[in-house]
This record gives sequence, C-alpha cells and structure tokens, in this order.
Amino acid sequence: MIILAIETSCDETAISVLESNKNSWEILSNVVSSQVKLHAKWGGVVPSLAKREHLKNLPIVLRKSLLKAGIKNAKKEIDLIAVTQGPGLEPALWTGINFAKELAVLWNKPLVPINHMEGHLFSVFLKENREENFGFPAIVLLASGGHTQLILVKDWFKYKILGETRDDAVGEAFDKVARMLKLGYPGGPVVARLADEQRTVLGKITKDGPLFNRIVLPRPMMNSKDYDFSFSGLKTAVLYKLREFPKLTPGIKKEMCYEFQQAVIDVLISKTMRAAKEYKAKTVILGGGVVANKELRKQFQELPYTYDREHVVILPEVKFTGDNAAMIALAAYFRYKNKKLTVKPQALKADGNLRIA
Ligand code: KG4
Ligand code: ZN
Repeated sequence: MIILAIETSCDETAISVLESNKNSWEILSNVVSSQVKLHAKWGGVVPSLAKREHLKNLPIVLRKSLLKAGIKNAKKEIDLIAVTQGPGLEPALWTGINFAKELAVLWNKPLVPINHMEGHLFSVFLKENREENFGFPAIVLLASGGHTQLILVKDWFKYKILGETRDDAVGEAFDKVARMLKLGYPGGPVVARLADEQRTVLGKITKDGPLFNRIVLPRPMMNSKDYDFSFSGLKTAVLYKLREFPKLTPGIKKEMCYEFQQAVIDVLISKTMRAAKEYKAKTVILGGGVVANKELRKQFQELPYTYDREHVVILPEVKFTGDNAAMIALAAYFRYKNKKLTVKPQALKADGNLRIA
C-alpha cells in the first residue's frame, strides 16, 4: 500500500510517500521545506507567517515528493492520505488539513488524521524499517519545541501520559537560553555546538591549574516523586547566573551552554529511567527535535552503572528527529493496519491542543 502524508504543524512543510508491505516499509520520498530562516528574524515561529508559507509551499512540496517517489499517476497509485491533526499551531495545521481533504476528495481516498506526537514516537521505526528490539511496555520520552512528555505505552495505541512539563518544553528552553546568550534561533543546535566546544577544553592544564566549568545550575524537579518536568526555573537560573559576570564573553557562553545542556540531560535521563524501572519497561524510546542532540543521545546510550540496563534504549535516526512527514505516514500505516480510525474528510478539524492520551 502507498501512503501520502502531510505535516504542517509548525514551521516545516513536509510531504512523504511511504510504501508498506506486510512487515516492512520503504520511504519513497521525504521532502521537508523548512521556514526556519524566515522565522529566525523574529526569534521564533510566527503563526501567520507559517500559514502563508505552508499555503505557498504545499503544492510545490507535493510535486517534488511525488516526483522523487516515482509516482506518475497519484490518483491510481496512492492508497491512503495521512495528515497531522495536532498538536501545533492551528493556522498552520489547517493548511495541511485542508490540502489533505481536497486530495482525499479529488482522488477518492481514505484520510487518516495523526497526532504529531504519535508521529515523533513512530519515528524510531523509520530507522530499522522493522520492529526489531522492540517490546511492550515501553516508556517514551518526547522532547520537542512545544512538548516534553513521558508516556507509558502498554500496547499499540495504548498511551498513558505519566508526566509532562509544567511550563516550558525542553526545546523551548534551549531556544530561550540561546536568545539570552544572543545565539539566534533555533537554539538547540547552536547551544549543543558551544557545549561541545567547551567539552574539548575541560580538564586542560593552564597556569592556574586544570580548566573546569565554573557555572553550576540546578536540576529542576529531578528528584520529585512525580514524572513532571519544569524548565522555566532553569532558564531563570541562567538569567541570574549571567548577571554575575560583567560581560557576556564567548567563554562564558560556552560554559553556560555546557552546564545548561548537562542539567537538561541529567533531568531527562533520571526521570525517564526511573519510569522505565517502575513500569518494568522492555524498551525506552526517544523522539522529537531535541533528540537530535548528540550529547543527549550519547548519554542515553551509555547510561552510568547506577541505571538499570535491562531496558533497550532506541533512538530515531538524527534525520528523523525533527518534524517530517515520513513519521506521520508510518503512524498512519500502523493505525490503518490496526483499523484505528479514519474520518470522513469533511469532519476532520485541526486541534492545536490535541493529546496523545
Ligand atoms: O520536534 P521539533 O522539530 O518541532 C516541534 O514539534 O516543536 O523540535 C524543535 C525543537 C527546537 O526547540 C530546537 O531548538 C530543538 O528541537 N533542537 C535541539 C537540537 N536540534 C533541534 N535541541 C537540542 N539540541 C539539538 N541538537
Ligand atoms: Zn515536532
């Protein structure tokens, strides 16, 4: 079966074509048109601009995606259309939904709405092209620009949100700290790069002794009994720390990025692995834009001995961590296969606050 999926929840216009057979699937095309440069000027995503760009880009991205996939007669060859219903920016979501509805009517195909967070969850399966190493129950950590959630998955589509952020999402915290350090938008990649640079000099011997990181930040809610997170306090701690230094030098920026990133990683690992232990998870799955972070990936894969090693940690390939439509296509394939929900095109509505459970 051939699935065409559309994703427009934030600032990427994405369309993918995925071919699935019984137990395997192949991404025929995965086109992502990013608006990041446009929004960078404003220091974050502007919903009205995102909508305008999606409207402009959707037909172009569709043509590119079909061409790459080698689809000559879409009406004949495509079997199913999938689209992100939410969560995300509603004006942006509507552009993808309306586009998908028109195609579904025009080509007379079933339409499957997909939760964007479920898409991020399924992005781990794009890598292996199969379900190897995977078993229930699973603990899923989703960390993106808009969300931070710990989810217990007992079976396919059986989700329970164990905890989530009470204020800022992890990616949002990266973006805000980057703004304080005057590093531009999006913050994640540049904070990660400076943290890496700092790591390479730590421990070097100078005339004053070995170099160490002077900045220490809190690990908010790391030891709280629940599975919630809070990152806005960490952001404020960064702000106060910066006031202790007379000038924002490149060196201070690097130290701050290093310590901030490590504080985030410590909290995420601690809570996720505690949940894995409590719920006897066979698998720990990570997903979302923040999972592009190299250090976070490394530390999750090389957990210190204090953590239980019975759980297999699986990560999506870096190229599938950010928003894309292949993950939406795969989630739709699983839903369709399991006879979970298709709607009449007319009935589908965007839901900016859609919950996975
Ligand atoms: O999942 P995503 O692409 O979009 C949303 O659904 O929000 O996530 C985007 C977020 C941004 O906040 C960005 O700063 C963050 O992911 N991000 C990173 C890295 N790359 C992107 N955060 C930390 N380290 C990175 N390398
Ligand atoms: Zn996302």
